[in-house]
Amino acid sequence: MRDVAVIGFGMTKFGEIWPTPLRDMYAEAAQACIKDSGIERSKLQSAYIGCMTSGLFNGQEHLASILTDYAGISGVAATRVESACASGGAAFRAAYLEVASGASDFVMAGGVEKMNDGADSTYCLSTASDQEYEVFHGVTFPGLYAMMAHAHMNQYGTTPEQLAAVAVKNHVNGALNPYAQFPMEISEQTVLGAVRVAEPLGLFDCSPVTDGAACVMLCPVDVAKDLGKPIIKVIGSGHATDSIALHDRADLASLPVVKLAAERAFAQAGIGIDDVDFCEVHDCFTIAEIMCTEALGLFKNGQGGPAAAEGVTARDGKHPVNTSGGLKSKGHPVGATGIAQICELYMQLTGRAEGRQLSSPRIGLAQNMGGSGGSSTVHILEVVS
Ligand code: COA
Repeated sequence: MRDVAVIGFGMTKFGEIWPTPLRDMYAEAAQACIKDSGIERSKLQSAYIGCMTSGLFNGQEHLASILTDYAGISGVAATRVESACASGGAAFRAAYLEVASGASDFVMAGGVEKMNDGADSTYCLSTASDQEYEVFHGVTFPGLYAMMAHAHMNQYGTTPEQLAAVAVKNHVNGALNPYAQFPMEISEQTVLGAVRVAEPLGLFDCSPVTDGAACVMLCPVDVAKDLGKPIIKVIGSGHATDSIALHDRADLASLPVVKLAAERAFAQAGIGIDDVDFCEVHDCFTIAEIMCTEALGLFKNGQGGPAAAEGVTARDGKHPVNTSGGLKSKGHPVGATGIAQICELYMQLTGRAEGRQLSSPRIGLAQNMGGSGGSSTVHILEVVS
């Protein structure tokens, strides 16, 4: 396996991007990524595109061909990758493996989702849960995560104030991110007093419905050196699956899929969580960030809530989490999210994160999750001098 580096990124602003079509959003991110990478378009050999459900949201399948065509890169090998909200992470892993294997030198990993296109987004999203045992009975994603939140509260004493601390912190970070859908600070009172979506989760405990696209470019480390690029090396890639339906899990208050994906990424990287300077984690709901930080090993089970409330995961805390604003404030165009997380790692590691820049981070981790924990990817990137 060859060493692989990320050498550039491109993103659209996240939000309700109306009336821009899906294909134009991808084209914008892809062209920005090629430009940022500084390579000739003709050098690109392959593209992987994470997208959860363009068929339901937009009535468009055969996606990879139409998107690469409109992005001006028709002819490359192009593959759409689907793993619900972890589609972007899975696309990045596929691109990484293609470069690492030696099959291709320049591969672009992208993600896109246009969720505001007239379709019923709650229904479209629910197709990533178990149709027969969950959706048929009326369950939605806010409902599933509400059940997980109740279990976490019952088992560990996690409080609504601790959930709110996650939202408040992520909006502080998102307010400094020009790509964010909701770049405004909010108070604990706003979170706790908001309209209820699925008790104990209110409006500000939920990630929004978002349109957006993101891309990153990968190539061998040796080639990146020849190009004179900063070396942002992929040192770990982990991927895991679990049962989709919550009732098939032994414990509703933990996410074994995240633990497994992280163990695989850490084993490859030869490091542990204490070596990681900052993380982007999958905060589709505030309780998800708490459970993901526990599954990654940042905190013991039950300690994720208190840690968020004490500022441990703030930008100036011991373990910064979601400096981008996370899914909560930056937005969650499901298929694009995993790639947007890698974009944030790349910006932070190359000193391009502007107002939210951390002080000289060296190792960043991105954790992307599908559904209520049926799949997860973990990627670890390091600055190599
Ligand atoms: N955070 C902050 N503000 C939000 C928001 C969010 N998640 N969602 C909507 N808003 C704001 C809107 O901007 C709007 O503000 P305005 O009145 O000032 O214009 C207002 O709240 C109402 O927006 P609307 O689009 O009517 O909200 P909604 O009731 O249709 O949807 C949710 C709100 C939370 C139900 C929806 O965002 C949702 O389903 N989120 C979860 C998505 C999901 O499940 N993703 C997959 C995770 S696995």
